[in-house]
Amino acid sequence: LIIPDITNPFFPELARAVEDTAKSLGYTLILGNSYSEGEKELQYIEILKNRYVDGIIFASHQLRPGEVNKLVRMNIPIVTLDRAVDSGLENVPSISVNNYLGAVTGVEHLISIGCKNIAHISGPYHLRTSLERLRGYTDRLKNTLMFHASYVVQGDFSVDRGLQATRQLMDENPEIDGIFAANDLMAIGALKALIRLGKKVPDDVALLGFDGIQMTQFMEPEISTVAQPIYEMGALAVRQLVSLIDKREIGKQVEELQGQLIQRASTLRRR
Ligand code: RIB
Repeated sequence: LIIPDITNPFFPELARAVEDTAKSLGYTLILGNSYSEGEKELQYIEILKNRYVDGIIFASHQLRPGEVNKLVRMNIPIVTLDRAVDSGLENVPSISVNNYLGAVTGVEHLISIGCKNIAHISGPYHLRTSLERLRGYTDRLKNTLMFHASYVVQGDFSVDRGLQATRQLMDENPEIDGIFAANDLMAIGALKALIRLGKKVPDDVALLGFDGIQMTQFMEPEISTVAQPIYEMGALAVRQLVSLIDKREIGKQVEELQGQLIQRASTLRRR
């Protein structure tokens, strides 16, 4: 399993599911962390190729289709996880959450509790997962009077960027009363910024994340999130990979699982 950022709790939760399922099917997990560096991912491929691994699950985001297709041509079974299938990877199964619908659900929830000026702190634009969440946010708001391009700020999935982006948003648009962060770590950073600004969550600004990592429950107030079916995604990726290894037919090439809104104190209906 190649993950892009072991310091983000989303990926260790994914790795646990992969390891549990691999073990139950008689396989051992080798874990590589690429820190989102394409070069490192290519090095891992060389190492794994020479160690005759049975298959590779990429939960990374950097490889270009040409590089992955080189592997496919070497008959190394591959599955991509947490990303939609990029063009040119048609014969590589992929498992992810339905990022678009998850974002629409999240924005719907903020509207339902009375938010009128909803901002979005997106993931990095080079990732399909970020663009799909941004598209869901934009599509849900574009036919209403609530959409303002200045309410969207590009983030990088880190706590610090969530904090900085929230400071910038509130400084430039003090009327914002809802923030949808494209992942939970940025939502945690946003909470810190809002508290420092003296804002009450959710009474002044409601806050929603995405991923469903446990850490959102340790915050005060606890942060609502659109939870990805992390364990299910990891387990399904292993099952798909083992089917490829055993040269059995697999189900759908592209599996997009349903996200689930988990409402907590940060979006409780405001008085
Ligand atoms: O938090 C890390 C993010 O990177 C997750 O949302 C995951 O889906 C990936 O896009």
